[in-house]
Amino acid sequence: MSKELRFDGKVVVVTGAGNGLGRSHALEFARRGAKVVVNDLGGSHTGEGASQTAAQKVVDEIKAAGGEAVANYDSVENGENIVETAIDTFGRIDVLINNAGILRDVSFAKMTEQDWDLVYRVHVKGAFKCTHAAWPHMRDQKFGRIIMTASAAGIYGNFGQANYAMAKLGLAGFANTLAIEGRKNNVIVNTIAPVAGSRMTETVMPQNLLDALKPEYVTALVVELCHESHEDTGGLYEVGGGYYGKLRWERTKGKLFRLGRPVKAEDVHEAWGEISKFDESATHPPHIAGSLQPIMDNVEAGPSKGGNQYIDVDQALGY
Ligand code: NAI
Repeated sequence: MSKELRFDGKVVVVTGAGNGLGRSHALEFARRGAKVVVNDLGGSHTGEGASQTAAQKVVDEIKAAGGEAVANYDSVENGENIVETAIDTFGRIDVLINNAGILRDVSFAKMTEQDWDLVYRVHVKGAFKCTHAAWPHMRDQKFGRIIMTASAAGIYGNFGQANYAMAKLGLAGFANTLAIEGRKNNVIVNTIAPVAGSRMTETVMPQNLLDALKPEYVTALVVELCHESHEDTGGLYEVGGGYYGKLRWERTKGKLFRLGRPVKAEDVHEAWGEISKFDESATHPPHIAGSLQPIMDNVEAGPSKGGNQYIDVDQALGY
């Protein structure tokens, strides 16, 4: 067993920490020596109402176990107030876990603009507001660890969750850019797509599954990703029920037509097998420059002078 991952002297903000995954994260960071801001608006899982009870109960639990914590009852839409609680109470912020979330599940035809906006505001705008307020502190102190909480619904799609899927994959894209911008200042940003028994999943999962998928399994990964020793950034991890795995994009070898002649829909039609087939020639562009490389090489190769209409993708993919 490796050395215990401690957070002594670190200040951790967990949003939506009154229940489920956030509560588990908050308790564990506190147990490992962190001072924790337990944020929770205390509404229903569909985003109605507000109460101080949820956050306060978790703060009481942390204190009863000998830890340090303070409650914050703001909506993540007012993320600057949550970060202010960390600065005012503990003088700094080291770790931000963007976890707060709600559901407004309904098939797309029946989805209202309010269902769409509310889910966007809590998940995406909320994560933006909290992260934007925390960012300058982390940049200036040259240390920060940020987690975005995505979902398999965003990665793969899920019936009745068009709004939620949009928000959740949006967070992964948001994190990808923050990882690039934060790296030079030791601000490390990763995304998790968890699965856990919680009030969010209790209406769709049988009891035995709810019992088995303990939030603590997810928290173990979050703790690792937020420790000062962890330097991998921009990752997307699926986690839950004892499973831990990393995801990446995969692209087919594809088809590259030489420039200088029109590419017709019929050319694309004819090449469909090559465009869409995943086999051992598929690649994993690691960054945007790698993604654009075959296109840039094609531009450099210039227009076809009547010879071969195609360029060898293997040669163009130099990463
Ligand atoms: P939960 O409903 O038990 O906890 C979410 C917490 O966020 C609640 O305590 C709620 O009061 C709080 N919250 C909601 N809106 C808020 C706001 N505007 N400001 C501050 N707090 C707010 O749900 P669970 O399952 O623990 O979910 C945590 C995160 O994990 C969410 O982002 C959820 O979308 C995500 N997730 C959970 C999965 C699961 O299997 N439980 C699957 C995929 C993603």
